[in-house]
Amino acid sequence: METKKDWYKDAVVYQIYPKSFCDSNGDGIGDFKGIISKLDYLKDLGVNTVWISPCYPTPDKDNGYDISDFDNVDPKFGTMEDFEEMLEEMHKRGIRLLMDLVVNHTSDEHEWFKSAIQGKDAKYRDYYIWKDPVNGGPPNKWGGDAIGGSAWIYDEKSGQYYLHVGFHYQPDLDWENPKVREEIANMINRWFDRGVDGFRCDVINMISKDFDAPHPGDGPRLHEFLHELYEKCFKPHNAFTVGEVWDLPPEDSLMLTHPDRGELTLAFQFEHMRVGREDGKRFYPAEFKPHDFVDVLAKWQKGLNGEGWNALCMENHDQPRCLNRFGNTGKYRRESAKMLATLLYCQQGTPFLYEGQELGCINPIFHTLEESIDIESCNNQDILVKKFGVEETLRRFSFDSRDCGRVPMAWDDSENGGFTTGKPWIKLNDFYKDINAKNELAAADGVYGYYKNLFKVRAANKTLMRGDFELLKNADGEVVFRRFLEGEKDVYVVLNYSEKKIKVNKPCKGGKLMLSTHQRKRLDENMTLKPYEAMIVEA
Ligand code: NOJ
Repeated sequence: METKKDWYKDAVVYQIYPKSFCDSNGDGIGDFKGIISKLDYLKDLGVNTVWISPCYPTPDKDNGYDISDFDNVDPKFGTMEDFEEMLEEMHKRGIRLLMDLVVNHTSDEHEWFKSAIQGKDAKYRDYYIWKDPVNGGPPNKWGGDAIGGSAWIYDEKSGQYYLHVGFHYQPDLDWENPKVREEIANMINRWFDRGVDGFRCDVINMISKDFDAPHPGDGPRLHEFLHELYEKCFKPHNAFTVGEVWDLPPEDSLMLTHPDRGELTLAFQFEHMRVGREDGKRFYPAEFKPHDFVDVLAKWQKGLNGEGWNALCMENHDQPRCLNRFGNTGKYRRESAKMLATLLYCQQGTPFLYEGQELGCINPIFHTLEESIDIESCNNQDILVKKFGVEETLRRFSFDSRDCGRVPMAWDDSENGGFTTGKPWIKLNDFYKDINAKNELAAADGVYGYYKNLFKVRAANKTLMRGDFELLKNADGEVVFRRFLEGEKDVYVVLNYSEKKIKVNKPCKGGKLMLSTHQRKRLDENMTLKPYEAMIVEA
């Protein structure tokens, strides 16, 4: 693979949740060989980079985000040879691979932690964060995954607490310890030696902590630790890294990603994911206002302009389907899927999409509490049931649980959606008979075909690939923005973000239609846009 410096700017990144993508051996769990069998599908879509969620050995309490061995692959996905074959097959097709880097914590079944818990003198004790009790209780007030509980777990044997910022079986590594940092850097480089191209870095702003601060994360040595990894690992391998960080304003995000700083390549922003949730909180839906959603996206375009680069993302394994949150899951499913893709991927930045998004997938329905298995839902279940009753809790799970995007990818309308010949590890999507890859590819107005055309149009247009962004209109469903780049023609994106017909003017003099969600043939001075209609116009 060529190693152009800014290759991340040309990337179209597709996230694979390996447990749910494609099962080749009938055990009900997706695997590497399953992924290999779908690489042509991805290539054809216009994908040139894959981010694979964790595929390392794990007790699987958080679907692999609880790693027990950083240097191997979990046998349920195949062998290391299968992994290497997958990587080779990706590279043959010009597809790069980003691994998931989960190094804020390990599983409590990692050898390091199994040693650390043995006692104060254990070999790996100082790889984790241990503190003496303060006033007979936890060292500070940080909350844990049990609602109302502490992030500190008391270890009777040694009389000390250890920290877990994530779920209780995910003890935090102590990044203040240089040995930990060295182990992690060496491990990352071993993956580079195996040929991987970069990393998505899980909760990466948590690695440095200020124990006196109200919340963990964004501690005083964060930038130093990341710069160290950059120098030792990312820079020598011209890697693409994208950080998962929550709730940082654009100026702080730039501190992590500005090219002059030598830390990460990109950082996700999730501010738009909070729109349509009461106080931004999962399971608490509020009225969704498209205007606010667009405004947040535009804020980030402006905030990073000229200095950083956006990671354009509206779905991942922790989020429900974008159509349930920001679009329409019924009559205008396909239309709103195409409009949202046009809105997001015509902005400046690198597109990220999550498996099934290119099909316009919608959330499954959780009919019973037992069907909803994700730890975050389980942790919230009692409180929600107490407050709202079972039916409403299930409605909220079906709207907003992490399982919504984790149900098996639907490849066709056969049994189990063509995902497995066995029993799937999690329920199927209730809608797989209608919404699946086979149908979507065959339909003249299918979502997959539109995504493919959109990525093609984007890749061939310098303004869309590199240009600046300016929001021109965002009112009453009409959204218009302009992309511009010196020496190139301007590009206008015109959208109807509503279920009504709206009247719009041609965005510029002359103009050529580059892409339309509704097979529109011509541009007129005054146009009536159908619900969720979108178009891209070159001036
Ligand atoms: C963020 C990941 O995206 C999520 O799935 C996981 O549960 C937590 N980090 C803990 O690793």
